[in-house]
Amino acid sequence: MELVFDLEDLDRAAAEFWKEAGGTPLIAFHGEMGSGKTTFIAALCACLGVRELVTSPTFALIQEYLLDSGGEPRRIFHLDLYRVESLDEAIRAGVEDCIQSGSICLIEWPELITPLLGPGVLHAWLEVLGPQKRKLTTRLP
Ligand SMILES: Nc1ncnc2c1ncn2[C@@H]1O[C@H](COP(=O)(O)OP(=O)(O)OP(=O)(O)O)[C@@H](O)[C@H]1O
Ligand SMILES: [Mg+2]
Repeated sequence: MELVFDLEDLDRAAAEFWKEAGGTPLIAFHGEMGSGKTTFIAALCACLGVRELVTSPTFALIQEYLLDSGGEPRRIFHLDLYRVESLDEAIRAGVEDCIQSGSICLIEWPELITPLLGPGVLHAWLEVLGPQKRKLTTRLP
């Protein structure tokens, strides 16, 4: 999948992404600092029905949002592993549990935990094309 979008088209791009991603619950977001990982994840969460504010998890590595879609509330995990220094630290923080939970799990800076991701992960790359323009590309590993 390849999506090119301006900031003003973000919501549409997020909806398109989710449609094409086919409901894959585990998604790893790659891309340099400021490429738009958090911004895109926030749009995706909003599109999925999260009503809370989605920002970079500042203190916790793991943020959990509740998705109230009528029946049993579902969870979305948002991980930002930028500050994590080892696979061991990530495991101690509970990253594996999030990944194996079957809940939607959106991961920024996933490189260090590649061994935990398994075959079902969807990888997405964000690239800066201009001040307001980004390209998102996906491929399975
Ligand atoms: N089309 C776009 N999509 C996403 N973000 C955009 C776009 N155009 C401009 N931006 C801006 O780029 C910045 C992206 O910052 P963001 O925090 O989302 O990046 P990040 O990849 O999560 O960085 P970090 O690695 O530090 O977590 C925001 O200020 C956002 O408003
Ligand atoms: Mg971020």
